[in-house]
Amino acid sequence: MQMLAVVNTPNGKVPVELRQVPEPALKPHEALVAVQAFSLNRGELRSFKNAEEGWIPGQDISGTVLRQAADGSGPSAGSRIVALLDEFGWAERTAVPTQRIAVLPDTVSFAAAAALPIAGLTALRTLRHGAPLLGKRVLITGAAGGVGHLAVQLAARSGAHVTAIAGRPERAAGLRELGAAEVVLGIEQAQGRFGLILESAGGSSLAAALHLVDAHGVVVVFGNSSGDTTSIGFADFRQGQNARLQSFFSFTSGPEEAFAPDLALLVALVADKSLTPHTGPERNWRDIARVADELRERRVGGKAVFRVAA
Ligand SMILES: NC(=O)c1ccc[n+]([C@@H]2O[C@H](COP(=O)([O-])OP(=O)(O)OC[C@H]3O[C@@H](n4cnc5c(N)ncnc54)[C@H](OP(=O)(O)O)[C@@H]3O)[C@@H](O)[C@H]2O)c1
Repeated sequence: MQMLAVVNTPNGKVPVELRQVPEPALKPHEALVAVQAFSLNRGELRSFKNAEEGWIPGQDISGTVLRQAADGSGPSAGSRIVALLDEFGWAERTAVPTQRIAVLPDTVSFAAAAALPIAGLTALRTLRHGAPLLGKRVLITGAAGGVGHLAVQLAARSGAHVTAIAGRPERAAGLRELGAAEVVLGIEQAQGRFGLILESAGGSSLAAALHLVDAHGVVVVFGNSSGDTTSIGFADFRQGQNARLQSFFSFTSGPEEAFAPDLALLVALVADKSLTPHTGPERNWRDIARVADELRERRVGGKAVFRVAA
């Protein structure tokens, strides 16, 4: 069977295009899912350039199970689900390992769910490096982005005192309503010291974070949106003695069997309205190349979500 998929075209006029490809073959622990929506992560933009012609990207998807996994695991046919994939998700149908699936209640839309996997897991698991968060001062860089929006809400809900960093006034809008106690434009404006810092801008932002962390605090380094390098030395920790610099990679941040429960936790928080993915207008998947440029140029607030339409 053939189906439509978004295919990487690094040598073409546009970075990706829709093409007919064969439907995926299923392993025994994989369900066949009809993809309804997917979201685009900043990290995936780099893959467009680096991966070969014909590769199908796609990590965050939501949709409906067409065929339950042959080993009997995971949700049955007809279930509405959200899932995390390594790749191959931006297609009409995809094969999903059942340890990467959570079932959606009817109250959680496909669009909201598609915004959750990478960004939500990253927000949830980077914050866990600062547990317990009750009363802790937490600094979140890139707070207007996909991960940042969710991290601000999860940290505030856990009782942290959140300082959110945004790049421009218009990007700062709404962050207080999500639970940030302070919103500042640039990390150099942040006041006081922090028990936990989520750092994803890199360059001078990472250097500044080392001077803002509490003694015995943690700086979680999970991105490098600026593309700039940082030079650090022992003396940078003079104020934050015995602080820890913790790297974070979402796909290896926990055992395989922990993905489904963590996705289910995020879904439950969305269902009870204590977590709201910031998705903006849903786009047609045929517009992916244009929206990728918008994300690269920091014109997308929150998550870019696409509807898989025939
Ligand atoms: N390690 C992992 O597993 C993992 C998982 C997910 C994401 N990430 C990384 O974490 C970062 C955030 O991801 P995301 O999906 O939230 O991305 P996003 O939606 O594009 O948000 C990135 C945010 O970073 C801010 N930023 C600050 N300096 C920047 C610069 N020089 N260039 C571009 N953006 C800059 C932007 O703030 P303003 O718009 O306010 O200026 C933007 O809101 C990315 O670097 C991504 O690759 C890593």
